[in-house]
Amino acid sequence: MIAKRISEKLASGSMIRKMFEEGNRLKAIYGPDAVYDFSIGNPDLEPPVEVRNAVRTLAMSEETGIHAYMSNSGHQVARDAVASHLSRISGLPVDSSAVCMTVGAAGAMNAVLRSVLDPGDEVIVLAPFFMEYLSYIDNHDGKAVVVRTDDHFQPDLVAVAEAITARTKAIIVNSPNNPSGVIYDEETLHRLDQLLLSQDHLIHIISDEPYAELAYNGKSVPSSLANLTNVIVCYSWSKSLSLPGERIGYAAVSPRHADKAELSQAIVFCNRILGSVNAPAFFQRVIETAIDAKVDVANYEYRMNLLYDIVTNAGFRCQKPDGALYLFPKAPEDDVAFAANCAKHNLLVVPGSAFLCPGYFRLAFCVSEKTIRGSEKAFREVGQSYGLIPG
Ligand SMILES: Cc1ncc(COP(=O)(O)O)c(C=O)c1O
Repeated sequence: MIAKRISEKLASGSMIRKMFEEGNRLKAIYGPDAVYDFSIGNPDLEPPVEVRNAVRTLAMSEETGIHAYMSNSGHQVARDAVASHLSRISGLPVDSSAVCMTVGAAGAMNAVLRSVLDPGDEVIVLAPFFMEYLSYIDNHDGKAVVVRTDDHFQPDLVAVAEAITARTKAIIVNSPNNPSGVIYDEETLHRLDQLLLSQDHLIHIISDEPYAELAYNGKSVPSSLANLTNVIVCYSWSKSLSLPGERIGYAAVSPRHADKAELSQAIVFCNRILGSVNAPAFFQRVIETAIDAKVDVANYEYRMNLLYDIVTNAGFRCQKPDGALYLFPKAPEDDVAFAANCAKHNLLVVPGSAFLCPGYFRLAFCVSEKTIRGSEKAFREVGQSYGLIPG
């Protein structure tokens, strides 16, 4: 007999996983080249050469203790590297004592939520959002309060203000955003900050930033530390260095955060008691030397443009993404029915409902150029079947 809330979650399943499994089923029938699978945001570029060199050097090193336990906050050299990187991009003096190395951004968010939530505390999430947030919040007995963004997927600050109660403990922001691809500009961050600072109790801003370096169309991503006050950055190198399986990231508390010292200690403690103990030792050391490296962002931008043209030429309305790894076009009918219909054309898309944003669908463009080009006919057929383009 398993716990009731886990049993309920097992029954509902993940839509993204379902599409992924449907893709495998179709590939077994039609062959992999005839199925256009845009369901999963798994970065397909290999890690940059700096990472591979660091792995090689470290693996061959005579140094002892590379694989040993260390402080729960992580290796000092890695924390120093993160602190000086953050100081450089934010212009604020970030101290390594505010940095805890974690098991990816997911590990960072869980340690942060565990640190700040009492049972029943509310966490505002801005839809569309990465659905795992609901589980992370539930893990620590919090209550998610979902607030819709505006027509351009930007935070609707009136709606956020209306959602704030005496129990609001935190808000999660994610820019560049999965799935919408939008970036929040400085002005938006500043207005959000002012709104939160004007409340009569402290509201933590949990800034989930795994896509921070993936920006397109000449845009850059404003520093959350520079623009938000009570912010905790949750970062991972899953996307910027293509290391999702290595599970390496960090949580960093802003030097301007009102509870900086106590919160930093709490995050380290929670990193330990949640079972991570510490972030993977080997990759903390890799990060120390490869922190300034980046995957080929231009390569992602090229594929984003390619897919965007195919989808919009097939008649779909879509806001061009400024960042992350996804297109989020409008669905011409109920998004779940639409995704099922796409699968009949061997086209795998994720319904917007999987991000609590019905009426849209998500396409991950971190797939091969061959898959993107090959999908053109199927998108046109689907577009024609809904009368979006002439038959
Ligand atoms: C918005 C967002 N947050 C967090 C994560 C989890 O990141 P990580 O795998 O580094 O823990 C992902 C992964 O895709 C994501 O898209």
